[in-house]
Amino acid sequence: MAKISWKGSALLGPVPPVMVTCGDMEESNIITVAWAGIINTHPPRVSIAIRPTRHSYGIIKERGEFAINLTPATLAKECDFCGIYTGAKVDKFAKTGLHKAPATAVACPIIEECPLALECKVLDVLPQGTHDLFLAEVVAVDLDDTLLDENGKLCLDRAGLAAFAHGEYFALGEKLGNFGFSVAKKGKGKPAPNAKKPAPKKHTAPKRG
Ligand SMILES: Cc1cc2nc3c(=O)[nH]c(=O)nc-3n(C[C@H](O)[C@H](O)[C@H](O)COP(=O)(O)O)c2cc1C
Repeated sequence: MAKISWKGSALLGPVPPVMVTCGDMEESNIITVAWAGIINTHPPRVSIAIRPTRHSYGIIKERGEFAINLTPATLAKECDFCGIYTGAKVDKFAKTGLHKAPATAVACPIIEECPLALECKVLDVLPQGTHDLFLAEVVAVDLDDTLLDENGKLCLDRAGLAAFAHGEYFALGEKLGNFGFSVAKKGKGKPAPNAKKPAPKKHTAPKRG
């Protein structure tokens, strides 16, 4: 096998194909966004990159808020639809059959059928070229109670999320391990107590986030 070198391109994958809601409960829109990511843990901050030509762009810029709705694999078709049609011409809630639910800290709706939503307030809009980066703080999280186990622990694997890689949708597959499993003691789920002590770099558990 030989390596081939290409010129730089946005070839990062898999990424989450999220459905971003904006507007308010009466006039709302959904735009599918794959250029989305976490950029800070505390305070919790995320980014979404949107082309200024999108109908949603002006709504989000003007209102300064949006919600990121995580897409389960079962809603991949609806997610794709919201990334093909524009809200300037189509009511995407009506066409997809997705339902609006009220958010707690922002005026725009979240999507009832999505297992988890991040309510976001825009902090900055940074032009990048084709897209503008909306940098935002996550001010509330809404999740289905079925994602919690009997101890109240979030089991995001239960959400059956979709992934997007180079133009193709996938359902998340087999679980490979938990955070820190590479240094966990055999037979135990938790990382070894010495995992954080200085050790040869390649055996040290990476810090989460
Ligand atoms: C899987 C997928 C991912 C997309 N990701 C983005 C994105 O990150 N940023 C963006 O501006 N448009 C993205 N799009 C395109 C918009 O979702 C699409 O142009 C949509 O129709 C815009 O809706 P609006 O005009 O109602 O805002 C994506 C489309 C699909 C199908």
